[in-house]
Amino acid sequence: MDFSTKLNALVARTDAALDALVPALPAAAPAGPARIHAAMRYSLQAGGKRLRPALALAAAGLGGPDATAAALPAAAALECVHTYSLIHDDLPCMDDDDLRRGRPTCHRAFDEATALLAGDALLAHAFLIVGEGYADRPALAAALLRELAGAASGARLVGGQMQDLLAERAGGEVAASDLEFIHLNKTAALLEASLVCGGLVAGLPAPALDGLRRAGRHLGLAFQIVDDVLDATADTAALGKTAGKDARAGKATYVSLHGIDAAARMAADETARARAALAALPGDPAFLLGLADLMLARRS
Ligand code: IPE
Ligand code: IPE
Ligand code: MG
Ligand code: MG
Ligand code: MG
Repeated sequence: MDFSTKLNALVARTDAALDALVPALPAAAPAGPARIHAAMRYSLQAGGKRLRPALALAAAGLGGPDATAAALPAAAALECVHTYSLIHDDLPCMDDDDLRRGRPTCHRAFDEATALLAGDALLAHAFLIVGEGYADRPALAAALLRELAGAASGARLVGGQMQDLLAERAGGEVAASDLEFIHLNKTAALLEASLVCGGLVAGLPAPALDGLRRAGRHLGLAFQIVDDVLDATADTAALGKTAGKDARAGKATYVSLHGIDAAARMAADETARARAALAALPGDPAFLLGLADLMLARRS
């Protein structure tokens, strides 16, 4: 199976798992929880790239096809955490964006309070999916919950978002090391957790989990640097989110600090570091290496 066929298959399995694991819309219930479930599904099913689930399923695949299937609840949970982070990231009090995944943002399609609550519900639902999905393997459930909660925590994703906003309020004037902290936490934390969760489901030994964590750190840094470059170089239609927003908002980004060319080189260097860590993993890392290349070369 070639790379794209395999990736499309993993994305389709993720979409099916999400559809099965996220609350359905009770027919004709205009008020009450139906509205929150509609908002959750609106953002979740808007066509994201599903890279975090793909990384988790690919890392699990190092342990064989049964491990890939067993990682589907973890993959769905990771996408719920990611989608919550996007809904909140787009709110007027954060990045104030109108477009996401090619659609009006959640707060534009619904309203701010509903978007806030849809994000809250998706975050909580992620932990429910893991708790229920691995109830028959309590030690694995505990390890996955710890990994996911750590990545989403105030020290990692939320902490990175906090520092991102403080840097914007400071007019984008930050040291390179502060910007690296922001990217390592607001973005790399969840990508790192995606690989590690896959490895946990596959029961990989500690050295392989360490390798996945190292790869995720470099991949995640590369991913957010590329996001910064695309914001400055791609167009809104290709991105499915408003281009040129970072400069207008005075965000601190790898482009504002280092320039487009140097940022692109840094993303390539981080990808090379990630590839080295992936290549040393047990099993066949070819598909993971393909994902690393795609994350660098992507145009959206
Ligand atoms: C966007 O992530 C937010 C960042 C961390 C840069 P993605 O580019 O993976 O967004 P989707 O899931 O494909 O919409
Ligand atoms: C996103 O960073 C990080 C998280 C959502 C946690 P950005 O603010 O750059 O992401 P986009 O560009 O809006 O997708
Ligand atoms: Mg942001
Ligand atoms: Mg944003
Ligand atoms: Mg961005």
